[in-house]
Amino acid sequence: MTAWGKRADVVVHTREPFNAEAPPAALGTPLTDVDAFYTRNHGPVPEIDPATWTLRVEGLVDSPATLTLADLARFDQVALTATLQCAGNRRTELISFRPVPGEVPWGPGATSTATWTGARLSEVLAAVGVRDGARHVEFLAPDVAPDASPPQGFGGSVDLRTALAGEVLLATGMNGQPLTPVHGAPVRVVAPGQIGARSVKWVDRIVLRADPSPNWFQAHAYRLVPADGDYGRDAEDRGLALGPVAATAAVLSPAPGATVAAGPLAVSGYAFAGDGRGVIRVDVSANGGAGWVQAELSADLGRWAWRHWTARVDVAAGPTEIVARAWDASASTGPARAADVWNPKGYVNSSWARVPVTAV
Ligand code: MTE
Repeated sequence: MTAWGKRADVVVHTREPFNAEAPPAALGTPLTDVDAFYTRNHGPVPEIDPATWTLRVEGLVDSPATLTLADLARFDQVALTATLQCAGNRRTELISFRPVPGEVPWGPGATSTATWTGARLSEVLAAVGVRDGARHVEFLAPDVAPDASPPQGFGGSVDLRTALAGEVLLATGMNGQPLTPVHGAPVRVVAPGQIGARSVKWVDRIVLRADPSPNWFQAHAYRLVPADGDYGRDAEDRGLALGPVAATAAVLSPAPGATVAAGPLAVSGYAFAGDGRGVIRVDVSANGGAGWVQAELSADLGRWAWRHWTARVDVAAGPTEIVARAWDASASTGPARAADVWNPKGYVNSSWARVPVTAV
């Protein structure tokens, strides 16, 4: 067993703060077991006593409120299957084009899927009354992240339209179990289809605001700085705030560097597109993208969840690249190469997944 109840084969990048990706074996199942679900922390996991935990809801609301767990339990309890994906998922492929110093070198396992249970944020907001002028909903947590400048608790916001859509949860359960400490117990936000950073764990304050959260993790980090920019200097002025997850795909089998038999080859993986757009097609190539076949999509878990896929391709003898690309409901796919989307913080690798293999 690794730390925080995680199983032995999770890919641990850092122990403190604890950052681990789901093991390849766990990425192929529809729901990810809690002990294999990826973990992304910017600071130490806070110790929170559920008996004294409260959630303050304030800002541009008619009646600011302080809610206990018992208060939250009185709202309708709903279940939603949703994929969380870190904005740095598949960063290693960007790094292989150009280094991204100081960032966790995530492979394709900074993503996982669970069935979350809890109260709808929209109902909690309806209970306190959203005032005219509110445009953004900020979530704040007590874990102090040393990488923030100045050091501060983790936070971020989603726009009001997203928050009121009904799918954003104040979750207390994950795959039929109470949330574990490392995943945000007693209560976390689940903002489906948005970069994982907006699913704030250990949330204890919600602020309705006219503008996006000024928290460092929204105003400075998790921004797409242009390739010719400098993260430290340009994040706030030239960086784009990240929100919905771009369509992306990963090849889970064959593994990178594998030796395979020439001829028919089974290829499998996952694909995901944020904002509820869903994955509508996955193309797979056995010759670096010169020709494509369409993969078979597995059971649909709903528009907030990833889609697994399988394909059968013909591989000619010699070295080649297996390539996969996902299309979302806006009929768009990512760029052909990681080099096309490299950026100083290594976010949003939506480029086609490429796995080098040798066929013999
Ligand atoms: N919430 C708090 N309070 N602190 C954090 O460091 N990390 C965020 C988000 N919520 C974070 C947080 C990021 S970047 C991601 S990708 C997701 O949590 C990961 O959620 P998980 O650890 O449950 O997989």
